[in-house]
Amino acid sequence: MEKYIHDKKHLVKELLKWYDANARVLPWRSNPTPYEVWVSEIMLQQTRVEAVKPYFERFIEKVPSIETLANTSDDELSKLWEGLGYYNRVRNMKKCAQYCVENYDKKLPASYEKLKELPGIGEYTAGAIASIAFKIPQPAVDGNVLRVFSRLLVNEEDILKEATKKKFQKIVKTYIPDDRCDAFTQAVMEIGATICIPNAAPRCNICPLASDCIGYQSGKAMMLPNKTKGKRRKIEKKTILVVVCGNEVLLTRRPKQGLLANLYEFKVYDEYMKVKDIKKYFGENHIKKMMKLEDTKHIFSHIEWHMKGYLIVLDQKMDGLWCNAQEMNEKYAIPTAYKKYKESLYTWWNIV
Ligand code: ADE
Repeated sequence: MEKYIHDKKHLVKELLKWYDANARVLPWRSNPTPYEVWVSEIMLQQTRVEAVKPYFERFIEKVPSIETLANTSDDELSKLWEGLGYYNRVRNMKKCAQYCVENYDKKLPASYEKLKELPGIGEYTAGAIASIAFKIPQPAVDGNVLRVFSRLLVNEEDILKEATKKKFQKIVKTYIPDDRCDAFTQAVMEIGATICIPNAAPRCNICPLASDCIGYQSGKAMMLPNKTKGKRRKIEKKTILVVVCGNEVLLTRRPKQGLLANLYEFKVYDEYMKVKDIKKYFGENHIKKMMKLEDTKHIFSHIEWHMKGYLIVLDQKMDGLWCNAQEMNEKYAIPTAYKKYKESLYTWWNIV
């Protein structure tokens, strides 16, 4: 690669200059506390910036400190997280907060090594908190950073491999400027989010790093990064029964362990049910109305739910947890997977 220009110092200078002029204004960027950096980084894993913004603001308002987090009920946290997905993230945050209350004087420790040991904080989050909140020059290497650096250096290794990530952590560390490590971490993420974008051609024509980017100079940027194809997702068939009686709907609670643990859902069967079996289950004479709802799909990291839905209006309540729209909105966290069915229910209730 010798014939290509890649001047580290120049690259970092251009990156920071670009960041200072172009960084998006985000609620976790104006002088954030370590707690705010932590909350934002956890939310931003697997979730887009635009989607995170309102969640972040509401979370910080309702749960303003590590101590409050340690004492907030699991159900309340699930409700604040409703729609963000990967609910284990917030459960681990609570465990982590409890640990910090007991061991670190209600604060996050200002040490990369200690941060890494905490529940739910891996190398990426530890690096992000260390560099952004505590100005400790440690790398924060996530998928965005792997993509940017694979292209900058024309590194063709598989970015889904742990060994590649380790290697990139070492590489990225050599670029971090001691005096502005917080801006550096955010700037690499920002360029990954807005210019060196995923699943599309990178916008090299407006990239401030193009003159130091081997990917651009060699014409290989677009082909990178290299990723092995992940395993196929398992498909699960489900029947979603939105069971209504007057202004109340029947909710059930998911198991304590596993996917979407402890969240609430409609009545769900892990197979496609026949209409006649549904009628038999509720008793045909108790069904005032039964409507087929949209078929929907929801994709998790390793599983796909393929759902068929029905709205069933009963003439009397059967055993179970019944709640009205207000309780559903304020109290019960229902996964996004059921969004369409919740919308249909609201349409039935004539609520917009
Ligand atoms: N993605 C992950 N962390 C981020 C941050 N701090 N700002 C913007 N996008 C991000």
